[in-house]
Amino acid sequence: MRTSRRRISSSTVPRGRARVENGQLRISLLGTCTASSGDVPLDLGGPRQRAVLVVLVLARGEVVPVERITEAVWGDHAPADPAGALQAYVSHLRRRLQPGSAARTRSAVIVSEGRGYAVRLPPDAVDVWRFERLLDRSGTTDAATTAQILGEALALWRGPPLAEWADEPWAEAEIARLGELRAVARERLLEARLELGEAALLVPDLETMVAEEPLREERWRLLVLALYRAHRQADALTALRRARTTLADELGVDPGPALRELEERVLAQSPDLVVPTQRTRAPVAPPPAEPVLAPDDLLDRNREMRAVRAALDGLAAGEPGLLLIEGPAGIGKTRLLTEARRIAGERSVRVLTARGSQLEKAFGFGAVRQLFEPELAVPERREALLAGAAVSARTVFDLAPGESPDGSFAVLHGLYWLAVNLTADGPLVLAVDDLQWCDSASLRWLAYLVRRLDAVPVLVVATVRTGEQHVDEELLTELSMEPVAAVVRPAALSLEATADLVARRLGGPVSPLFALACHRTTSGNPLLLRQLLRGLEADAVRPDAAHADMVVAVGSRAVSSMVLMRLRRLPAPAPVVARAAAVLGDGASLPAVAALAGLSEAETAAGLAA
Ligand SMILES: Nc1ncnc2c1ncn2[C@@H]1O[C@H](COP(=O)(O)OP(=O)(O)O)[C@@H](O)[C@H]1O
Ligand SMILES: [Mg+2]
Repeated sequence: MRTSRRRISSSTVPRGRARVENGQLRISLLGTCTASSGDVPLDLGGPRQRAVLVVLVLARGEVVPVERITEAVWGDHAPADPAGALQAYVSHLRRRLQPGSAARTRSAVIVSEGRGYAVRLPPDAVDVWRFERLLDRSGTTDAATTAQILGEALALWRGPPLAEWADEPWAEAEIARLGELRAVARERLLEARLELGEAALLVPDLETMVAEEPLREERWRLLVLALYRAHRQADALTALRRARTTLADELGVDPGPALRELEERVLAQSPDLVVPTQRTRAPVAPPPAEPVLAPDDLLDRNREMRAVRAALDGLAAGEPGLLLIEGPAGIGKTRLLTEARRIAGERSVRVLTARGSQLEKAFGFGAVRQLFEPELAVPERREALLAGAAVSARTVFDLAPGESPDGSFAVLHGLYWLAVNLTADGPLVLAVDDLQWCDSASLRWLAYLVRRLDAVPVLVVATVRTGEQHVDEELLTELSMEPVAAVVRPAALSLEATADLVARRLGGPVSPLFALACHRTTSGNPLLLRQLLRGLEADAVRPDAAHADMVVAVGSRAVSSMVLMRLRRLPAPAPVVARAAAVLGDGASLPAVAALAGLSEAETAAGLAA
């Protein structure tokens, strides 16, 4: 289900979602407590040692004071030196959880902070966390998606959770809480399936669930509804009576309002009972009207726009992703990214943006700061977003100019949690233009992020210029190989689109020879075509056959200068600007030179002045 949506077209490279990362740490508590690294099961040691890990995992990254851990693990039978004994367990656990790592990097999963310990794990690393996130999400989508999400969530359960510590006071509350969440998940799943029209099929399941826990009114409600919709009105009424009797006998109470209301509607044979009612748990955005695929002035981009929309649709359904827009300079990558931002904006999805630039390539986390700093402007919000596991990201934003933050695992992880925290209000789009010029630390973080997006509603949309050697070639390749990555490669404009643009700029009618000359000269590259047309317009050239030769003459200079593009990347702005200006010819506009050079307009202006 997840991969198919990315099969958008032949040039959108689909990638399976099989998670085969080496060493991805997984901890499972929904059943016997186990851990694995990739496919390799990890031995976590004896029950006390495992209890230490479980206590920390259940705290979800919050620091747990030493006293609380020792109290949970030893109760009244504390050893002489509980802190020392605990430290020994922690160091054993570290060794077992990160078997391949060097001793000094082993503290990445269990960190010590102040007088306590905390785990640092991505949210999909622990089945309980994943289960809770899925359950949260299930309340906000349509019935079909809800059913799918809950099916996935319940499949994480392999048995009673924390069973080996069932008698331990510290585990009791958690066991009860998880049991309740599972019960709710099962009820919601059946409710969703009922909305999907499966009434008759669900009756046996609901009977079983009612028998398991006859005091849960929601189960009776669903059973009555299923019976009624399966055209078994008499059975529905009998079930209602059974519910009444059970509640009266066991608790001495009448059914609650939901069940009473249903009873009235069944007795009245209310017509709205048979029509599956839309769920109202959370406001669901109205489905967008089938959109015009591409705006008027964006030619030949229906396929690419479909990929963009598919990625955003996926995000709306809670699916994370990475959409890479790849291609040579001027092909229209930034323009597609702008469209993605526009559509996200129309759907009220939060978009954070950054742009790589040759001049800022050396600044550690420059792109990350561009992304997040606007969100951190208000002090209270900054505090909230950089709390909990995101604390270790603070150093990135607290730096004095010129200082470089370290790119340690803790910082990457903190930034990751910052992104996770931002998704508390809804899905998030990170739009990064010119990824190839982003600083290495930010690239590394993006790679870290997308590898851990399993249940986090974040879509990264990024453009990458191809056809040149980049410093971080390997990181870029790695990103494009991620299982969640989809790649869009905007194609050259067709002859028809070229003729269309010519007509818009120079007025019609356009001679086919003239259009062909424009197409050949620019190879259908939108940036070059726009520049060419700008020059022709300035000279008031008419698009007729007689002027076709002239196009070749004007354009050839630009085309021959394309060779310059292939020259070695030059670090200083002046040569970069000079090169871009040469490519575009005398009529080049500042934005066009800036786009080609990968600099901001201000940088470009400075470069031109140099
Ligand atoms: N499909 C298209 N149809 C018409 N104009 C386009 C199209 N794609 C891009 N452009 C225009 O061409 C120019 C270069 O596009 P841009 O997105 O900046 O290229 P890139 O980011 O790939 O270097 C911009 O003026 C843009 O508006
Ligand atoms: Mg661009």
